[in-house]
Amino acid sequence: MPRLTLLALLLAPLAACDDAETSAAPDGPAAPATEAPATDAPPAAACVPSQSDFETAAKPVLDAFCNQCHGESLQFGAPMKLVRYADLVAGAEGERVVDSLAEKVILGSMPPAAQPQPADAQRAALVEWATCGAQTVVTTPNPIDTGSDRPVLTDPGTPPAGAEFFDLRAPSFAVEDWDNRYECFTFQAPVNEERFIRRIETLIGDARVLHHTVLIPGGVRAPGEHGPCQNDNPLDLIYGWAPGQGALHFEEGGLRLAPGELLTLQIHYNNRARHQGVRDKSGVRIYHGPVEGPEVGMLALGPVDFEVAPMSQGDATGYCRLPRDTKLIASFPHMHETGVAFDQVVERVDGTVEPIIRLADWDFEAQYIYETPVDLAAGDRVKTTCTYRNMGPDPIGFGPNTEDEMCFNFAYISPPMNLSLNFCNTGAPPPPVAPYSPGLCAPIGAGEAEVQPAQAELRLGQPDTAEGGELPSGLWMLAGGALYLPSLTLGPITVDADNTSITAQGVLGLSEGRLALDADVAVHLVTTASDFDQAFDITIAGDAAPGEANPIYLDLDVTCGDPALGEGVRYTATADRVTLYVTVPLGPTRLPVELWFTPLP
Ligand code: HEC
Repeated sequence: MPRLTLLALLLAPLAACDDAETSAAPDGPAAPATEAPATDAPPAAACVPSQSDFETAAKPVLDAFCNQCHGESLQFGAPMKLVRYADLVAGAEGERVVDSLAEKVILGSMPPAAQPQPADAQRAALVEWATCGAQTVVTTPNPIDTGSDRPVLTDPGTPPAGAEFFDLRAPSFAVEDWDNRYECFTFQAPVNEERFIRRIETLIGDARVLHHTVLIPGGVRAPGEHGPCQNDNPLDLIYGWAPGQGALHFEEGGLRLAPGELLTLQIHYNNRARHQGVRDKSGVRIYHGPVEGPEVGMLALGPVDFEVAPMSQGDATGYCRLPRDTKLIASFPHMHETGVAFDQVVERVDGTVEPIIRLADWDFEAQYIYETPVDLAAGDRVKTTCTYRNMGPDPIGFGPNTEDEMCFNFAYISPPMNLSLNFCNTGAPPPPVAPYSPGLCAPIGAGEAEVQPAQAELRLGQPDTAEGGELPSGLWMLAGGALYLPSLTLGPITVDADNTSITAQGVLGLSEGRLALDADVAVHLVTTASDFDQAFDITIAGDAAPGEANPIYLDLDVTCGDPALGEGVRYTATADRVTLYVTVPLGPTRLPVELWFTPLP
């Protein structure tokens, strides 16, 4: 049951959410060349962008759309200046700033999403100049570089009337020569009664190194402390910001804030330009008001168990069957670095499908909150599909680290679901049942028998007592069964008995004191947080006789299969029905299973 590893993961302290520092060398500003001397001139076919066209064609576009970040004073983690001709053309062809500039503009990944974007003609002028006319851009990514079909959340600009605020800021944090550093600062909310968070703004400290901010409920260090993000819950957040994003603002109501609640601010620093002596005080300003109006909550919607094979492109798909009506207000899609596209739709109870959000061109560097007003009703299924391109030698699976992958929409909803875990991954259709094929210890004749799948029930407590009886003979078909759980509550989650399904198929052979039991059982356990699928085979054979000490037990001398399955087997036998009570391994535990058989036609 692979998904139980997820539960283990959730119950253990959650692991790191960052890739701390990467060791990649900076490829920022190249040493400025004065004039390309003739001796160093590239081969004839090389492209040296024209210096005079730089001033007329390229510079105006750079100044208008790039140099608020890439200007004389670098901002928001931009690694190099795009100001002078010499800044751009120094170095070997292919490694010059002008080459990566052309690439970024063609791809549409610069300027970052949610920044003012150059018009097609301006992009074309820039690329034409940078590639010496070899390339021109025809289309603008629409509407921003993540290929989103929804607008980035707009900010009305002014805080809600009467709202109070407090600031959570990095305490003049010394930013070293890091390419990527995720630092987590934990705070205690300075409120002494329940409040609603009405608005969150990012306070830009040293804009030269600030890449993005995320606000996470809770904290794994004492308030006032900070350190590289590691065990900070990656499955829950309430806010995220990247340059270009306005404030998160609720027209009415807000997110509940408990008195003294811990909040952790994650700041992604990027100092590839190697600014020295940087001390940053970036943070967030949180506006709050009385507990009034609709309450907003966060719910992570997406699969939590998937794997993408090496050297391939693959999808992860997850469902969330909504337990009750809610309004989806805004969406914060999240994947890691191998993500290519994100797609979320709602499948209505009546079978119609409506889009929620699609990012056709996922960019890890450009994560935004989008406006996605959609009314969701109880029973609707939200389907999330993430596409990944894994070019590495190892499979990549779900996990909290940046080298793992994620596939969530951190959705702002109202009213909140208040699920025990903050994600919803239930309602996937059960996997299809493969036709019965006889296992290792199957009775003779099982291969020719027409075995039909039977439904088994989920029951609470322990099976009835068995009655023993004379063992009949012949081939018997599995006609039904039951799996017994001690309780519907498993740690922080609750089993949804109505939607759980168990399919069993198999054969029982009895002849002259020998028993051969061969059954496939597929469990699709639906819970309030996630679905768990496990298939197990029960295949054993051996000499069998009513127990000497207690005739409701079988004395089973297992000669084929797992002897543990033959321990403590009880039974009830009549002329037309045989019931066996066995215990089977399920995840980390063993559970009683009851299987009943009728004569094969
Ligand atoms: C809001 C700030 C901002 C604006 C505006 C902006 N950039 Fe950037 N740029 C960045 C940041 C931050 C990085 C480094 C990390 C990243 O890719 O997000 C970067 C990286 C780059 C890189 C890649 C550098 C490397 O070595 O990987 C290029 C090329 C680039 N920008 C070109 C442009 C161009 C051209 C424009 C305008 C058309 C532009 N940028 C506008 C912030 C900005």
